[in-house]
Amino acid sequence: MGQVENGVHGAHSSQLADHPDSSQHVGECCLDDGTSIRFRPIEPTDVSAYGGMLSLCSPKSLYSRYEQLITTSPHEMAEELCGQNSDCNLTVIAEIIDDDASSIIGAAQLLSDQGHEAAEYAVLVADPWQGKGLGGSFTSFCLQVARARGIGRVIAEFLPDNMRMIRILETHEFDLQRDPQEHVVSGQKVIDYKGAGMPPDRRAGESPEQYRQSGE
Ligand SMILES: CC(C)(COP(=O)(O)OP(=O)(O)OC[C@H]1O[C@@H](n2cnc3c(N)ncnc32)[C@H](O)[C@@H]1OP(=O)(O)O)[C@@H](O)C(=O)NCCC(=O)NCCS
Repeated sequence: MGQVENGVHGAHSSQLADHPDSSQHVGECCLDDGTSIRFRPIEPTDVSAYGGMLSLCSPKSLYSRYEQLITTSPHEMAEELCGQNSDCNLTVIAEIIDDDASSIIGAAQLLSDQGHEAAEYAVLVADPWQGKGLGGSFTSFCLQVARARGIGRVIAEFLPDNMRMIRILETHEFDLQRDPQEHVVSGQKVIDYKGAGMPPDRRAGESPEQYRQSGE
C-alpha cells in the first residue's frame, strides 16, 4: 500500500485535523513506485484532466466502479462529474504532483445523507496506475475526510470478484457482507458511533474471517 502523508499511514501530523473545513480536504501520498500524489477535491476546471483519466479506464474497470455498462464518452462523463461537490457529495481526485500538466489518475466519491449518518464510498483508479497502492491510500485518506466531516459510517458496495477492494476494506477494518442474491459484496465501517446512531456491538456485517469462510 502507498504511504499517506497527513494520513493514517504517514508519520506526519494530520492536516485534516487542523483544517476540518471541506474545502481543505487535501493530502499527499507516495505510491509503491515512488510517484508523489496529491489528493484534493475536484474542481470544475478539471474536466479535461478528468476526461483524460476516464479514457485510461477499461470497460471492466468502469463497470466495476459504476456497476453498469458505460456508453457515455469520457469527456461527457467528466463534464457531468466535475464541480458538483457539496456538503453531501464530495469527489476527491488523485493527481501526480510533479507533472507540468495536471494528470489525474484516480477519483473517489463520498456520497452522504443530509445528516451525515452514512456515506457511500466508491473509488476508481485508472488502469495503468492500478496495483501500486493508490486504492489503499485513497481509502485511508477518504476515511480521514469522512471523520473530519462527522460522517457516522462509510459503506462500500462492489462486485464479489473484486479482490483488491476486498483486500483494501479488510485492511481498513470494514465489516464485509456478501449478498448472493444481489451479486454484490458490501462493506461497512463505523467512523463515529454517535453519528451512526448505534452502539459498536450492534454493527452489521461479519468479520473478514467469517466473510472468507462464507465464500468457501
Ligand atoms: C479496486 C481499485 C480501486 C484498487 O485500487 P488499486 O490502486 O489498484 O489497489 P492497491 O494497489 O491499493 O491494492 C490493494 C490491495 O490489493 C492487493 N492486490 C493487488 N492485486 C491483487 C489481486 N489480483 N488479488 C488480490 N489482491 C490484490 C494489493 O496487494 C493490496 O493489498 P496490500 O495493501 O495488503 O498489499 C482499483 O483497482 C480500481 O479502480 N478498479 C476498478 C474500479 C473498482 O473496482 N472500484 C471499486 C468499486 S467501488
